[in-house]
Amino acid sequence: ARDPLVDRFGRVHQDLRISLTDRCSLRCTYCMPAEGVPWLPGSTVLSTDEIVRITRLAVELGIREVRLTGGEPLLRPDVVDVVRRIAALEGLHGSPEVSITTNALRLPALAGPLKDAGLARVNISIDTLDRERFARLTRRDRLPQTLAGIAAADAVGLHPVKLNAVAMRGVNDDEVVALTQFAVDRGYEMRFIEQMPLDAGHTWDRAQMVTQAEVLAALRTRFRLTEVPTRGSAPAERWVVDDGPATVGVIASVTAPFCGACDRVRLTADGQLRACLFARTETDLRTLIREGADDDALEAAFRTCLAGKRAGHDIDDPTFLQPDRPMSAIGG
Ligand code: GTP
Ligand code: 5AD
Ligand code: SF4
Repeated sequence: ARDPLVDRFGRVHQDLRISLTDRCSLRCTYCMPAEGVPWLPGSTVLSTDEIVRITRLAVELGIREVRLTGGEPLLRPDVVDVVRRIAALEGLHGSPEVSITTNALRLPALAGPLKDAGLARVNISIDTLDRERFARLTRRDRLPQTLAGIAAADAVGLHPVKLNAVAMRGVNDDEVVALTQFAVDRGYEMRFIEQMPLDAGHTWDRAQMVTQAEVLAALRTRFRLTEVPTRGSAPAERWVVDDGPATVGVIASVTAPFCGACDRVRLTADGQLRACLFARTETDLRTLIREGADDDALEAAFRTCLAGKRAGHDIDDPTFLQPDRPMSAIGG
């Protein structure tokens, strides 16, 4: 058996986030320009077999949770296969929990097959419930499909359904209560995310960011919030809404960083291992496996990557540098 993945700060890594593609069916203004970004060349994108090979080794190294991201992961034609093969792996702690973070557009067709393949649950991005605002923000008039996708996930039992909204000043910060009410009424968990400096345009501005404190103040105008104490390594802090059972969450990456308990490592669609969203270096697993590396060599590469993991993201440091890779090519 192999030893767990522990970094210099004693953080045991049990969560692997895999980006299946950098492409997306939406063009959210805070993420991508209208014309998209220069896509990863197809020849560099990992195959199904390559993804499964790396993930098999990762679960042998103690990974318990695998999150599939993008871009938009459901654009990968083999996504159901990827889920089936990863969910069946057996590692240091048994089989991993497999979940997906998606824009939901393809869920009406895929929720059932994904559930049958062993998918545990989904987190769905929805920044507004207003159709025109949605069309402006995502540059696509797809709110009805998004809502249908959310309902499809719920209907097939991909629970708990979590909804993600990036809180943005003057864009959707007036919808905190409405989004939460929508989720509470349906038994979903609404989560508001502080925007991070990961946009393709490098236009992020700390002063413009809607903070956790502002989100909570808005929520408290309508709801009574009781903090849920258990959090573990999860990014979201959660509160029970009124008498429950529904909960609401805030992911305060900037004003209340959770790096001290980070257990996440990331694999990009082109096979680069990243110890952090904000890592300045990557470990090239794609070249290694294409040159025939054995499992011990891959394991060594995982450990090298984590040996370079820094304590936190340093967004507030004057020397902070936004990574070259945008969010859409890291996976969030
Ligand atoms: P759960 O397992 O359901 O708790 O998922 P999650 O909240 O970890 O994942 P999701 O993909 O829904 O991500 C929601 C937001 O949290 C996105 O904006 C992510 O970029 C952000 N996020 C997830 N993991 C990390 C992390 O390790 N660091 C930071 N700074 N943000 C993260
Ligand atoms: N900061 C925080 N969250 C972001 N997301 C996309 N870009 C950013 C950003 N710059 C969100 C998406 C999705 C999740 C994976 O990350 O809206 O919900
Ligand atoms: Fe982990 Fe980096 Fe996210 Fe901090 S910013 S929680 S270290 S991935």
